[in-house]
Amino acid sequence: MDTNPRSLVGLLGLEKEWVLELFAQADRLRAARGTPKAPKPLAGKTAALVFHKPSLRTRVSFTVGMHELGGDAVDLTAVEVSEHGRESVPDVAHVLSGMCDLIVARTFSHTLVQGLAKHASIPVVNALTDHSHPCQILADLYTLWRQGRDLDDMTVTWVGDGNNVLHSWLEAATIFGFALRVAVPDGFEPDAGLFLEAERRTEGRVRRVRDPQEAVRDTDVVYTDTWTSMGQEAEAQWRRIAFAGFTVDERLMSLAKSDASFMHCLPAHRGEEVTDEVIDGPQSVVLEEAENRLHLQKSLMVTLSAATPPRVNEPPAAKRRRMKVSPQMAGVTA
Ligand code: CP
Ligand code: NVA
Repeated sequence: MDTNPRSLVGLLGLEKEWVLELFAQADRLRAARGTPKAPKPLAGKTAALVFHKPSLRTRVSFTVGMHELGGDAVDLTAVEVSEHGRESVPDVAHVLSGMCDLIVARTFSHTLVQGLAKHASIPVVNALTDHSHPCQILADLYTLWRQGRDLDDMTVTWVGDGNNVLHSWLEAATIFGFALRVAVPDGFEPDAGLFLEAERRTEGRVRRVRDPQEAVRDTDVVYTDTWTSMGQEAEAQWRRIAFAGFTVDERLMSLAKSDASFMHCLPAHRGEEVTDEVIDGPQSVVLEEAENRLHLQKSLMVTLSAATPPRVNEPPAAKRRRMKVSPQMAGVTA
């Protein structure tokens, strides 16, 4: 990915300054929100929202975000957009590029989002795939940045499943200087290739710590997520057994720094990966994370739209057939 991306499929390769400007712009949009000065830079623009999985935060934040920026959103499902559906991914990407200004896609398949980004001439945003969830981690980093934390000098500890959200943390660790400790049970490790790449690029600031208690000791951030991601529902029962000892409870939180934040992308499964006392407790910032999805993604949509050249719906010149325009037709189009 280039450092000034037109699409956001993942976080690898993003430039730190680009991300920090995204945060600063999100703050400006937040401050102007609901005032007469609220900018409408996406007036007349439409986002195609493709959702193959349920969503509360992501769907609402992109839809409300588009409206607040002056634009509109249209909802699509797997019936219209899929890898083996009514039409090919390139055809879908080309058609949407002619009518819309942005594609936001939540799918099982990561290659579907990659395919849309490859073939569309408008920006494509990964709104969660089985592989990653970059918007979530950008919003989480924005949350920590707003707390005044030094993203280059803090420790984040992941406790739980080696899933899509962890993958985006691994990618984010290559942008900033924070240390990332990963406590996952054996058999639930993140993608090995991505883990090794993150370990290499961060020169060891990313590392696995098998024991959750050791992993959270003196950490600045404790992060967890569901043990059963969307699409894994059939495994829920044995996952509960496999993850015994990985619940973030008050005892585990007490090992972190006294001002450590507890984070969770939500939805949470209370009593499984986190207890009520922790998620409702004073160190929890889960609601800030959720609201920040709106501010951060508004900023993202503005930035990606600005980086996109105006749409040209003309076919390539070589293929363009010159049509003789009759006076009647000219009258219709005049
Ligand atoms: N955190 C998150 O992406 O929530 P939704 O699945 O509700 O969109
Ligand atoms: N890992 C979770 C994240 C939900 C936002 C899932 O994919 O279901």
